[in-house]
Amino acid sequence: MRQIVTVIGARPQFIKAAVVSRALAAAGAHERIVHTGQHYDAQMSGVFFDELGVPKPTVNLEAGSGSHAVQTGAMMVRLERFLLDGPLPDYLIVYGDTNSTLAGALVAAKLQVPVAHVEAGLRSFNRRMAEEINRIVTDRLSDLCFCPTATAVANLRAEGRTSGVLMTGDVMRDATRFFADRAAVRAPLDILTEHAPATYFLATVHRAENTDDPDRLRAVFEGLGRLNGPVLLPLHPRTRSKLAALTVPENVTLLEPAGYLAMLTLVRHARRVLTDSGGLQKEAVWLGTPCITLRYETEWLETLAGGWNRLVGTDPAAIAAAAVTEPEGPAPVFGEGPEGGASEVIAAHLCREREKGGKGEC
Ligand code: UD1
Repeated sequence: MRQIVTVIGARPQFIKAAVVSRALAAAGAHERIVHTGQHYDAQMSGVFFDELGVPKPTVNLEAGSGSHAVQTGAMMVRLERFLLDGPLPDYLIVYGDTNSTLAGALVAAKLQVPVAHVEAGLRSFNRRMAEEINRIVTDRLSDLCFCPTATAVANLRAEGRTSGVLMTGDVMRDATRFFADRAAVRAPLDILTEHAPATYFLATVHRAENTDDPDRLRAVFEGLGRLNGPVLLPLHPRTRSKLAALTVPENVTLLEPAGYLAMLTLVRHARRVLTDSGGLQKEAVWLGTPCITLRYETEWLETLAGGWNRLVGTDPAAIAAAAVTEPEGPAPVFGEGPEGGASEVIAAHLCREREKGGKGEC
């Protein structure tokens, strides 16, 4: 039986693991989940395990918050101890681009445990982002790079990497598909009794480059204030901690961080999504809601087709203008796996690949 250790720790990773863990179990793998503890508040962590059916973690490393080195270092020390307690797995899976991803990849690679990176090959080409550094290092250390899009495959090829690279489709696409209808049933939201479909804007802001720069954060809030309708803003704790220095415009309603099902419901009915999240850009387009991205670049170029996603950065006038510009044509199709669900492709590959005769024969 294939032995897998999965390392997750931040919100979007719980969502991705929900669909891949289900596929791994169906493929007959034995999986142990390590929660690094990067996200620890109930609304940032527990709610995702409860509502998405992610298997209970075997261990929580309780690394918590801190500077990049403090946080990543704490995860590494504790993960190494866990892995050395054995048995070492056939693969260690990491997701995306957080500090939990980097810690998992570094520790496994040094213990000669093959690393499988889900959501490999993405690039913003902006090394001021911690996430870009995490992605580059993780891809280099990974034996298997599971890419969500052809763009991601091309990015790796441009860096000279072709072996062990597999275009699987996007596990977030699987998650949206699997949970969207359940969300409509299981997450009726009080707030939506006050806001009819397509009357409100949904915003999220949490990227360090926006929250930790007072001018940029002020500009984002000014832009939200210029929108011609109510704005619902579920607040990441990082952003909440910066509120004292800000004026929250009257049309903006602050909400607690939302669980995944609630978020899908909010996205589906919004007039526009405004965000600096990576995953939310895709979810908006998949659910047919135009997106406005509060950044100057995106890893998800496919979302930009037909103006379904517009990169406006933090300029208030650009934010307001994008909100009244309609996209052209149907929403772009992207993130589809070549053989159906990306999670199934990944699970099947991890479970048969060694038998086929070695790593990287994709
Ligand atoms: C991290 C990821 C980011 C991802 C995001 C998803 C890195 C470098 N960044 O950013 O790529 O998009 O997760 O949400 O890994 N905090 C709490 N409670 C929690 C978690 C965090 O209060 O449960 C607060 C703490 O003050 C902490 C701050 O939020 O210092 C930032 O948390 P951290 O995990 O460092 O990064 P995120 O901004 O969440």
